Amino acid sequence: MSIPTLNVGIAGLGRLGKRHAEQLARHTPGACLVAACSPVTAELDWARSELGVGRCHGTLDALLADPDVDAVVLVTPTTLHADQTIACLRAGKHVFVEKPLSLDVATCEAVEAVAKEHPNLVAMVGFVRRFDPSYAEAKAAIDSGDLGKPFLVRSQTCDQNDESGFFVRFAGSSGGIFMDCSVHDIDLARWMLGNPKATRAFASGTIALHPALAEHGDVDNGMGIVEFEGGQRAVFYASRTMPHGHETTTEVIGTTGTLQVGMGAHLSRVQYRDACGVGHRALPDFFARFGDAFRLEMEAFVAACRGERPSPLTLNDATEATRIGQALTQSLRSGMPVAL
Ligand code: NAI
Repeated sequence: MSIPTLNVGIAGLGRLGKRHAEQLARHTPGACLVAACSPVTAELDWARSELGVGRCHGTLDALLADPDVDAVVLVTPTTLHADQTIACLRAGKHVFVEKPLSLDVATCEAVEAVAKEHPNLVAMVGFVRRFDPSYAEAKAAIDSGDLGKPFLVRSQTCDQNDESGFFVRFAGSSGGIFMDCSVHDIDLARWMLGNPKATRAFASGTIALHPALAEHGDVDNGMGIVEFEGGQRAVFYASRTMPHGHETTTEVIGTTGTLQVGMGAHLSRVQYRDACGVGHRALPDFFARFGDAFRLEMEAFVAACRGERPSPLTLNDATEATRIGQALTQSLRSGMPVAL
């Protein structure tokens, strides 16, 4: 018996929401993008004209009242994620929510509790890097014992400097550099190390180019160390000011081997040689780096909703990433180590 197509509604059609909407409308097997919601009329017009989305709503409540919507993809501002996830679950819809679930651990736990009341609904958080083929290969190698016992993850998210200061405008609601950028590295570290319990976090940071961040207690370059039970450690670096491009890299060090993912920010395999030396073009941004991963992530969500495979991520992964990200943020602001 064939599994029916999953009817999906999307909430939020901004920078990332448009990408998810295009994936769902054009490239996700088993899914049909039937509805969209946004408070911005121009965004709904785009969904209608570019993607042929039939039902466009001004509010999430209106979208949730639509009985033909089976699942909702939330790509809304971070401050709305938790309440909207709860609303989707209570309306009987599967839900995919972009990271982070919330900036507050207790709120994440409250969402987890609601999800437990709806065990037949999928609730998945968007830690997209787990779907990147290179990270998946690294995880498989670790699980097969190729590195012995992994004890240290060094992971960084470094964005090219944006002189327009796009992220500065969102600094008041993004949760700061660790919650906005390092949350991905935190999730990767937990995943690669086998989900150990974090015990202590230390952080520091500096403002290299964007002084307006100081008003929000934020920095444009942040460094953090996290200790886990059993001796495993993680070291994080996040930057908004790279001159050359987007460079997300991760190194995992084990007792018998190490591996590195993403070193060099290569846009392609082409190498150039001239009077300045030897080089290659760099990735401009995270879309260029993680395009495939965004596609595979949406496929995994749809497959989980259709009962084809289990969801690879739980809401608890989101809670634990927030717990560590908030401890790093607190340590950055206080200058003191934070016990977890
Ligand atoms: P954005 O500001 O460009 O888009 C937000 C969208 O939400 C807009 O379309 C806005 O009209 C809509 N919106 C606002 N209030 C709404 C409401 N009440 N109901 C429905 N829609 C509403 O933001 P961006 O950059 O697209 O980020 C959205 C989320 O995605 C953030 O939480 C961010 O952390 C996350 N994100 C995740 C990334 C990843 O690597 N996984 C990368 C970029 C963003």
